[in-house]
Amino acid sequence: MIAPPFIDLPQCRCRPGTVRLPGSKSISNRVLLLAALCEGETEVRDLLVSDDTERMLDALQTLGVAVTEREGIWKIGGCGGRFPVRQAELFLGNAGTAFRPLTAALALSGGDYMLKGVARMHERPIGDLVDGLRQLGAEIEYLGNESYPPLRIGKGEGAREKGKTPLVTSVKGNVSSQFLTGLLMALPLTGVETTVEVMGELISKPYIEITLATMRRFGVEVRRESWQRFVVPANSRYVSPGVVYVEGDASSASYFLALGAIGGGPVRVEGVGRDSIQGDVRFAEALAQMGAQISMGPNWIEASAPLQGLQGVDLDCNHIPDAAMTLATTALFAQGPTKLRNIASWRVKETDRIAAMATELRKFGAVVEEGVDYLRITPHSSLLTPHSGIATYDDHRMAMCFSLMALGTPLRINDPGCVAKTFPDYFERFASVTQAAPVIAIDGPSASGKGTVAARVGKALGFAFLDSGALYRLTALAARRAGVAWDDEAGVAAIAAALQVEFGEDSILLAGEEVGEAIRSEEMSAGASQVAVLPAVRAALLYRQRVFNRFPGLVADGRDMGSVVFPQAVLKVFLTASVEARAERRTKQLIEKGFSANLALLLQELRERDERDSRRAVAPLRQEAEAKLLDTTALSIEQAVEQVLAWSKEALR
Ligand code: DC
Repeated sequence: MIAPPFIDLPQCRCRPGTVRLPGSKSISNRVLLLAALCEGETEVRDLLVSDDTERMLDALQTLGVAVTEREGIWKIGGCGGRFPVRQAELFLGNAGTAFRPLTAALALSGGDYMLKGVARMHERPIGDLVDGLRQLGAEIEYLGNESYPPLRIGKGEGAREKGKTPLVTSVKGNVSSQFLTGLLMALPLTGVETTVEVMGELISKPYIEITLATMRRFGVEVRRESWQRFVVPANSRYVSPGVVYVEGDASSASYFLALGAIGGGPVRVEGVGRDSIQGDVRFAEALAQMGAQISMGPNWIEASAPLQGLQGVDLDCNHIPDAAMTLATTALFAQGPTKLRNIASWRVKETDRIAAMATELRKFGAVVEEGVDYLRITPHSSLLTPHSGIATYDDHRMAMCFSLMALGTPLRINDPGCVAKTFPDYFERFASVTQAAPVIAIDGPSASGKGTVAARVGKALGFAFLDSGALYRLTALAARRAGVAWDDEAGVAAIAAALQVEFGEDSILLAGEEVGEAIRSEEMSAGASQVAVLPAVRAALLYRQRVFNRFPGLVADGRDMGSVVFPQAVLKVFLTASVEARAERRTKQLIEKGFSANLALLLQELRERDERDSRRAVAPLRQEAEAKLLDTTALSIEQAVEQVLAWSKEALR
């Protein structure tokens, strides 16, 4: 399957609803590793199936661990702390939750392994973990840059001396809690009492809680002395608990809770709640601080919007590093600034999330101050619609966070497939608790009267009106003025992409100049029809048209409104008339405006344009299967409007 380059979201409203969450990434990958390291077989239910867990599953299988799946139930054959395959090369993509713990486990289990990832993984530091493992006797070599993957681990039986002497190691606590997690999960492999001392403040403590709870589930109790010392007792062994249920992903819950908090709700997530072991459930408290109404049960959380709107907050986000990203986009819907503090770890995640977030938030007009470890976000008084797509930096959370912006404005999100890291069907779930602003699509041939009908229907419904043909006409006019030939695809597409257009009530401004009349000439009709056959021009105008898809609704007229631009339209009308009737109407129109007109010539031109519009390879004019046919040859404009209004009211019910 080819990943789509972008997804265009119309402006949406939140619909009350319930979302069953996918399994937690953090818990899934911990459970998989411990199930592989333990004695006995483990049945894992509700496992997250996503890129990151696939990296872990692939790696475990490469290491000789038996993995089977039937109807969503996974069975992992534990290897009792010694992987059957003693020499292997592992590719772990950009999955930090696979890379760090596997590094530790392999370093302490003996063997000869090479661990690699994607380019970004090789920019994410791992030196602190390697130092901690080396203190325990592990042999680890950097294959690229010092302190970064790729790594070569151990040789032969190398890494640890079997003995009885207790071991002590240390690890920095303030870069990534995944280092401590990786170490802790591997320590039972030493066989002796092993102590980890944490240097500096430990960040993201809730993730360590998940680690300790998961180890406990597999029979290993870690002694924790405040958050500075962790002792794994001698002879600790992982034993299969039989069946493990993976909790829903609390970080994934944040998007739906925010949706309810911003857009009304209530939106309920199922799979996490009061009894969750994941720290990110405390995201709900942060939302409550912004004013959202939150209720919670043992395994569900529900959020609704406050009557008086959300308020900006100043928050230490150390305890909810991943979910805090969701607060950044939520902040654009709040009154006053929001400051997210203590988020330095964002800089070493899938991307530099502080920089990425600041750059993309600014596209909505927000003023964003970016510090080493904080973001201060002041929303624009009214949300701006970005001119181009939101970049996602191969970071699933960027894509999911920015989907929330659809509650305020239509937008384009680039590379939406990146959500597969933790939430492959995110956008389908998003659609299940949102409702897009309605579109009525009216397509048909030139001079069929669809423009007049569409404008009147729009007015009657209180909807905006998009005359998409005007965009092609404007492109033709702008190209002519710039001296670019109408068949120069790249040249015209560049002009289309950069058009400076303002549509007013009764005016169309091109680079500030009124061109409403100029684009209606027969010459520009022909030019529009010519530039409209060029695929790059159509692609350049697509997003420009889709940004009209906002509340209360849109009536759009053109050739491909129902087929390409707004395939989700609630009503599609194919409005036509015989070519003779259209030529007569056009003649009358021209004469009324004081122009001369030749019926025979107009008839011929219309036939040529019909031919070109319906024969072109991209988005040809045709009646969609679900479109309602309205032949206006024998109808007055009023009759046509009345018919479309009747259909519209039915479709909008
Ligand atoms: O609707 P109109 O006559 O203003 O359109 C001018 C030209 O633009 C027409 O020949 C076909 C093209 N067009 C198009 O290809 N797709 C649209 N959605 C609208 C117009």
